[in-house]
Amino acid sequence: MPMNSQQEPIVIVIFGAGGDLAWRKLVPALYNLFLDRRLPERFAIVGVARHEMDDNAFRQRLREGVDLFSRRGKVEEQSWSEFASRLTYFAGDFTAPTTGALLRERLEQLDREWNGRADRVFYLAISPGLIETAARQLESLGVCKDCSRDRLVVEKPFGRDLASAVALNRLLTSLFAESQIYRIDHYLGKETVQNILAFRFANSLFEPIWNRRYIDHVQITVAETVGVEERGGYYDKAGALRDMVQNHLLQILCLIAMEPPVSFGADEVRNKKVDVLHAIRPIRPEEVHRMAVRGQYGRGTISGKPAPAYRDEPEVAADSATETFAALKLFIDNWRWQGVPFYLRTGKRLNAKISEVTILFRPAPHQLFPPAAVESWQPNRLVLRIQPEEGIVTRIQAKQPGTRLLLGPVDMQFRYRDAFTTTSPEAYETLLLDVIRGDATLFMRADQVESAWSVITPVLEAWEAAPPTDFPDYPAGSWGPESADLLTAKEGHSWLQPVGPEDEA
Ligand code: BG6
Repeated sequence: MPMNSQQEPIVIVIFGAGGDLAWRKLVPALYNLFLDRRLPERFAIVGVARHEMDDNAFRQRLREGVDLFSRRGKVEEQSWSEFASRLTYFAGDFTAPTTGALLRERLEQLDREWNGRADRVFYLAISPGLIETAARQLESLGVCKDCSRDRLVVEKPFGRDLASAVALNRLLTSLFAESQIYRIDHYLGKETVQNILAFRFANSLFEPIWNRRYIDHVQITVAETVGVEERGGYYDKAGALRDMVQNHLLQILCLIAMEPPVSFGADEVRNKKVDVLHAIRPIRPEEVHRMAVRGQYGRGTISGKPAPAYRDEPEVAADSATETFAALKLFIDNWRWQGVPFYLRTGKRLNAKISEVTILFRPAPHQLFPPAAVESWQPNRLVLRIQPEEGIVTRIQAKQPGTRLLLGPVDMQFRYRDAFTTTSPEAYETLLLDVIRGDATLFMRADQVESAWSVITPVLEAWEAAPPTDFPDYPAGSWGPESADLLTAKEGHSWLQPVGPEDEA
C-alpha cells in the first residue's frame, strides 16, 4: 500500500502494549491511519509490556482488537499483514536495564535500516503509578532527547489532585522539554469538539452575540449509560469529578468560552483556553454545597434492562462514597461572561448516552405578541451535539401554520451524517496523527492541567471532608440525583432534556 513517502520515518513505542487502551483504541487508530495512508512509508510500532508473548501472539491479539473496535470493522487480509509486519513486541519489565538496552538497540537498528534518524513517539499507556519510572528510564536511555524528533505521550489521569499534577509536571519537564510532552484528552480529538472552534471562529454569524448580553446561560452535559465496566478498581478511587470534569468537561467549557486566538498555533489556542480556566471564579469552601452536586447510582433500569447499583459493580467497595455523577455551576469572571452561569454535569448509568452543549439565549427584549400567541414560547437555543448523531441545532420561534397567530419553537438542524458522506476519524486517529506530525494544539499544556485541577480542588476537598450520607441517590437509568435540579433552580433555570438532531425536547 503506497504511503506518504514525504514524511520522516517514525517509530511508535507503546508502553503498556498488552493493555486495554492499546487493544481497543491505539492500534485500531494506527491501523486506520495506515489504511488512509496517513502514516509515513517507513514506520514501525514497538510494543512493550510485561506479559510473555512473541511477535506473532502480539499481532494476533491486536488483530482481534482491530476486528472488534475499528470503525471500519474487520481487517482486510492483505493490508493487515502489511501493517502487522511493522509490529514487534518486547516482553519485559521496561524499568529493567535489559529491556531498556534491547529497546535502544531496536531503535538504533531501525535508524540503520532507514538510513537516518527516525522520529520517535513514546506512548505511556500505563498506570499512573508507573509513569515516573518509565519517564526516568527513557531519559537515562537517551532515546528521547532530540526535542525536534522525540515525543512523549501521557494519558490521563494526569495526577489525582493539584499537588500530584504539579509534581508530575515538574518531573516530566525536568527530563524533557515541554514541547515534547503530549498530554492527551481524547475529547479534544473528537470531530465535533474541534468543530466548536470552526463554528465559533470560521463564521461571523454567532460571534457578535457570543457574550453575556445575549447569552443567558450555558449547559454542558456528558451523559453515559455505561457503568464503570471493568474499571471499578480505578474509578472507585477517582470518581466523576476527577474522571470527567477535570479534563473533558472543562476542556469543552474552554472551547465555548475562550476568546478568539490570533492564529491556530498550538500556544495561541492554549493560551486562550488557559485564560478561561484562570477566569473561573474560585469556589469558596463554604459555598461548595451551592455550586456542586454529587450522586451515585443505585439499582435501576436502562433501556428496559436491569442495571446493578454502583456498589455492586466489580472492584467497587460495598460502602463506596465515590460519586458517579457530578454537576457544577461555574462563573467566568471576565468581560465577556460576567454573571452567566455555566452548568456542567456528567454521570454514569444515566438515561441516555449524550454529550452536548446548549447555549440558552436571553429572551427578545420586547414582547410584542399577545400572550395567547406565545403559549409555547421558548428562548432561542443553540445545541452543539458532540455525540452521538453529531450536529448543531438552532431552536427558533416560528409562526405556526393557520389563521391564528400562534408562535412555537422549530429547529434548524445540521447533521454531520447528512452533510458529509465521509465518516469521521476516531478521536485517537486525529490525536495520534497530530503527535506524529508534532502538532500540540489539541493537547494539554502543563499550566492547563494545573489550572483545571485548581478549579475543582475546593470541591474535591469539601467532598472528601464530608462523605455523603445519602448514597446511592439516583436510580440507574434516571437523569441523576434530584439535588442536581437545585443547582439550576436557584438561578431560575432547569436542566434541559437533550434536543440534539432527531430528539424531541
Ligand atoms: C474516559 C473516562 O476518559 O472517557 C471514562 O475515563 C468515560 O470513564 C470515557 O467512560 C468517555 O469517553 P467517550 O469517548 O465514550 O465519551
